[in-house]
Amino acid sequence: MKGIILAGGSGTRLGPLTVSTSKQLLPVYDKPMVYYPLSVLMLAGIREILIITTPKDQSRFQELLGDGSQYGISISYAEQAEPRGLAEAFLIGRDFVGDDRVTLILGDNLFYGHGLTDTLRSAVAEPGPGATIFAYHVNKPQRYGVVTMDKSGRAVEIEEKPENPKSNRAVTGLYIYDNSVLDIAREIRPSSRGELEITDVNRTYLERGELKVIELGRGIAWLDTGTCQALLEASEFVRSLQRRQGLQIACLEEIAFLNRWISRSALEQVETRFRNSEYGRYIGQLLRRNRP
Ligand code: DAU
Repeated sequence: MKGIILAGGSGTRLGPLTVSTSKQLLPVYDKPMVYYPLSVLMLAGIREILIITTPKDQSRFQELLGDGSQYGISISYAEQAEPRGLAEAFLIGRDFVGDDRVTLILGDNLFYGHGLTDTLRSAVAEPGPGATIFAYHVNKPQRYGVVTMDKSGRAVEIEEKPENPKSNRAVTGLYIYDNSVLDIAREIRPSSRGELEITDVNRTYLERGELKVIELGRGIAWLDTGTCQALLEASEFVRSLQRRQGLQIACLEEIAFLNRWISRSALEQVETRFRNSEYGRYIGQLLRRNRP
């Protein structure tokens, strides 16, 4: 299974914050935003990851995340010249995906909560053909892709930002596909807003009877970072939970260590590197909690 993080786009709703930096590098409390979706892929057990950015921002992502070896994973990079839609990720990432299956996550989506890792791991492990998407009950579904399900839990309709949504189930920015997504993405045409819509990809799977919808329940937080207000709320969420529990959300080295992808000595180097920050002190605690 390959993973793609789509971290391009113009970020205009966050201007002027995004004039000289990428939205997905902005802080969500104590970490750059892209750490959160990257943590989700790592928790799902995915180790080969492509990060798609704007041409201008690519070097900053490389500076931050490198080739991924410090997390025991492999990260490569590609550019999206213009924000031509989420489904363009599969045109840009075609060679990277090869004959494999692929999980796409949007670089500004934050998921956290009870049972998430197990849910992700079993969804990724399922061998069958088709697509799996994740639905989440929201207050204002008209801002999102919206999926309608019948009584048996089967998806019957999927629409992008409908004016009159038929359900409150938003489609989150996390999608698992079989290899046919590469061809489906080549077939779809730009929407009226000029984008290759991920919703059109998902509709193709739905029409083939191959769209599975997993509902993320109340125990899961799915947070948006699309506006300044939402960004601050996401930071507050991370801060509150971390303060209360003394456990970090999206500490990439912790996930890598617990997955047995990196050694203790790698962790010790991280502690030294970040010794002046909370993050570094947390790594120190992690080392002491997990003494051999
Ligand atoms: O967040 C989930 C929603 O994401 C889904 O419910 C919708 O079905 C889906 O279309 C998408 O809706 P948005 O309107 O929120 O997408 P937005 O244009 O804001 O892009 C989402 C992220 O992807 C954002 O961080 C920028 C990045 N992006 C976007 C486009 C259009 C790219 O990297 N390249 C692009 O071409």
